[in-house]
Amino acid sequence: MSLHTVTLLPSGARQMFPWGTLLSDALLDMGVPLETSCGGKGICGRCTVAVGQIPEEVIACRTPLTRDITVRAGQALLEGPVALPAVPGSSALSLAVDIGTTTVRVSLADITRGASFEIASFLNPQRRHGHDVISRIAAARDRSKLRSLQKLLREALSIRIEKALRAMSIEGERIERVVFSGNTTMLFLLYGIDVIPLGAAPYPLRVRDLPVLPARDLGLACIGSAAAEALPVLGAFTGADLVGALALCAGQGIEKNAFFIDLGTNGELFVLDGDGRTFATSCAMGPALEGMSVSWGMTADYGAITRVLEGTAGLEFRMIGQGEPRGIAGTALVDLSAILLEKGVIQPGGAFSSGPGGPPLPAPLTLEQDKGGRHIGLWGRIRLTQKDVRSLQLAKGASLAASLLLLEEAGREPEDIERVLVAGAFGEHLDLDRFRRLGFIPDFPGARMEFLGNTSLQAAARACIDPGFIARAAACRDRAREISLSARPGFQDLFLRSLEFPA
Ligand code: FES
Repeated sequence: MSLHTVTLLPSGARQMFPWGTLLSDALLDMGVPLETSCGGKGICGRCTVAVGQIPEEVIACRTPLTRDITVRAGQALLEGPVALPAVPGSSALSLAVDIGTTTVRVSLADITRGASFEIASFLNPQRRHGHDVISRIAAARDRSKLRSLQKLLREALSIRIEKALRAMSIEGERIERVVFSGNTTMLFLLYGIDVIPLGAAPYPLRVRDLPVLPARDLGLACIGSAAAEALPVLGAFTGADLVGALALCAGQGIEKNAFFIDLGTNGELFVLDGDGRTFATSCAMGPALEGMSVSWGMTADYGAITRVLEGTAGLEFRMIGQGEPRGIAGTALVDLSAILLEKGVIQPGGAFSSGPGGPPLPAPLTLEQDKGGRHIGLWGRIRLTQKDVRSLQLAKGASLAASLLLLEEAGREPEDIERVLVAGAFGEHLDLDRFRRLGFIPDFPGARMEFLGNTSLQAAARACIDPGFIARAAACRDRAREISLSARPGFQDLFLRSLEFPA
C-alpha cells in the first residue's frame, strides 16, 4: 500500500498516511482542530481547508489522500471561539470538561466569582473508531487502535484548550484544576485504563475513583501543572456524567420520586424512589439526537436549524446564524417529527404516509422522490428521509424501554413520579412537550417536567467551584444501585414494542 505525506503550513509539520485516508482523518490525527459539525457527511462545509501551493479549497471529509499534499489553515481553522467574555486577571481559574461519546465540551470556571461558561466544543475525534462506546471498546482490542483512541482525544483536547485560552489571553499556568466528566469508557480511554473488561459481562470495574494527576500526564501540556481530577463513576455504563447529575440533584434537595434522563449517544437514567433509594442504568440511543445518524443532521452549531415551529402560514424554522441552513440539529428533528406525527404524515409505525390521497404536508415542506426513496424537503437542500425517522425511533425505543424497566426495578409506577428531569447538551432548544409527544419517556401524569441542560458539564464546573462536590458525588454514587438492562430478560422485546410512536 502506498503512503502519502501531509504537510501543514506554515508549521511544516508532516506525517505519512496510507493511500485513501480521508484528509479530515489525517488532519485530526495531526492534531489540527478541524470543525466537523455534520460528522463528515460533506454538508456543513466546516472542514474546508486550502491545499496546494496555489491554494485550492477542498472539503477535508470528502477528500481521500491520493498524493502528497500541503494544507494551509482555511477559514474553519482560523475561526476562534465566538464572543468569549473577559476574565479578571485576579480570578482563580479551573477548567471543566465533559467528554461525550459524540461531542466534547469545555467550560472555564472562574472560582473567585463562582461562575462558569463554555469556551470550546468539538466532535469527539475518536468517532473514526466507531460512533458508540461498544464499538470503541471493540476497537481498543487492537493495540494500535487503542493508542489512536487515546491520542486522538488527548491531542484534540490539548489543542482546543490551548486555542481557547490563547483567544482569551489566559496563560495556561493560571489554570489550577481541570475536572473531567463523561461516561466510564471515555474517562478510562483518557486516563489509559483498560476498557476491554467494560465490553463483557459482568463488566467489572478496576477503579471507580480516578486518581488526581498533573494534567501533563494526560497529554495536556498547555495546562501541565493543573491538577487533573474526574468525577467518580458508578459502573461500566453508568459513568461520571450520571453521578454528577445525581450530586447536582442532591444539592437542589431532589431526593424522592424523581426520574432523570440524560439524552445523548449513550443515555443515562436514574430513579429516586419514595424512600430516596437510587436506581441507575444506561442505554445505547445512537447519535440521532446529536445529529449524527441523520442525512442532513449536524450538531447545534452555526448554520443548524434548531427549532421547527408552527406558524399561521405553515412551519417556521429557527436556525443558528444566517443564510442558507447547513443541516438540522436533533432538537429540530424532534420538533419536526412530532408535528408530522400529529398531522398523520408520519404514522405511529414510523413510515411516511404522505403522497397521493395522504394527509397534506404543511407549507413549506415538499414531498420528493428519488432513487433512494421518498423524502421530505424542508429548506434549501435540507431533507428528512425515512431512514432519519428510523434513527430517531431507535433512540426513542431505547429510551422508553430503559425508562420502563428502571421504574419496574425501582418498584415505581409513572404516577408515583413527581419530577421528571431531562438533561442533554442541546442548549435551550429542546421542546419538552414534543419530546414527550414522541414517547421517548413514559407518560408521567402527575409530574412536573424540567429541562436541565448539560448536567455532565455543569457537574464538572460545580466541582471546580465547590471543593466538597466530588466527595459528595462519591457519597451519592455509593447509595446508588446499577441495573444492567442487557441482563434483563424481556429487554429486547420491550425495546421492539417501544419503537412505535404514540398514536
Ligand atoms: S464535516 Fe466535512 S462538510 Fe461537514
